[in-house]
Amino acid sequence: SSISVFAPATVANVTCGFDVLGFAIDAPGDTLELTLTETGEVRITEITGDEGKLPLAVEKNTAGVAVLEYLKHLGIKQGVDIRLHKQMPLGSGLGSSAASAVGAAFAINELMGAPLERKDLLPFALEGERAACGFAHADNAAAALMGGFVLVRSYEPLDVVNISVPEDLFVTVIHPDVEVPTKQMRKLLKEQVPLKDAVTQWGNVGGLIAGLMSSDYALIGRSMEDVIVEPLRSTLIPGFQEVRKAAMEAGALGFGISGSGPSQFTFSQGPETAQKVAEAMEEVIKSLGFTYQVYVSKV
Ligand code: HSE
Repeated sequence: SSISVFAPATVANVTCGFDVLGFAIDAPGDTLELTLTETGEVRITEITGDEGKLPLAVEKNTAGVAVLEYLKHLGIKQGVDIRLHKQMPLGSGLGSSAASAVGAAFAINELMGAPLERKDLLPFALEGERAACGFAHADNAAAALMGGFVLVRSYEPLDVVNISVPEDLFVTVIHPDVEVPTKQMRKLLKEQVPLKDAVTQWGNVGGLIAGLMSSDYALIGRSMEDVIVEPLRSTLIPGFQEVRKAAMEAGALGFGISGSGPSQFTFSQGPETAQKVAEAMEEVIKSLGFTYQVYVSKV
């Protein structure tokens, strides 16, 4: 039997929430087709939309790893053919590797008759993330798997909490066409954080969650500040300060790097503002000579 699934792109970190906050967007995303076979082997038989950049070797591909880990957990030997259709840019900060891993974990579980609950599939997707960037960060994968806005409250044990968001909260994401691998962007980070910065950061995380849950748009905006990761990464992101300025002047509530970049995102109240913000951001990226994709979605 066969199944075809869609897994969405995600925005991780959401400014102050490095490795703990993320949310799914309506589009883009990946489509995966999985087929059970008699070969006894897990194979990636086709990848489209990646310009030949992704590994076909199962144990190096996030989708392949997720399926291998899932079958290992169940203790069964099962042939599976995976066809992966990438419909979003790689190395973009849109959770591309997570989407493939989550789609694969979800699909194989369905094909096996859904013995595991959806939330219990996260560890398999995280092994895919580990294969892609060296660290099993859960902010993209949990958001792609569960949908909506999530908080990874803890890694050990894994504890993922869904956060409600205001009806009228919209995201604008712009992706300048440059590839910045997450692995490289994680190497920039420091192991130690000054206490003063930690205090600012957890104040903001608390404020952002409180703002989202109580539909306090001003509080959401005030809390969208990252004093730990963004100062290190933003220097490698094309036009970061100019795009921020343009987005804020066009009425965005707040602005930040999407995941590890180079995509950048904003929150806005209402679709009209989110669209205006999109146009303002596009102007800057265009003037810098980049081609780009822009996405507007309800959060
Ligand atoms: N939290 C991860 C990071 C997200 O910032 O490295 C990568 O998309």
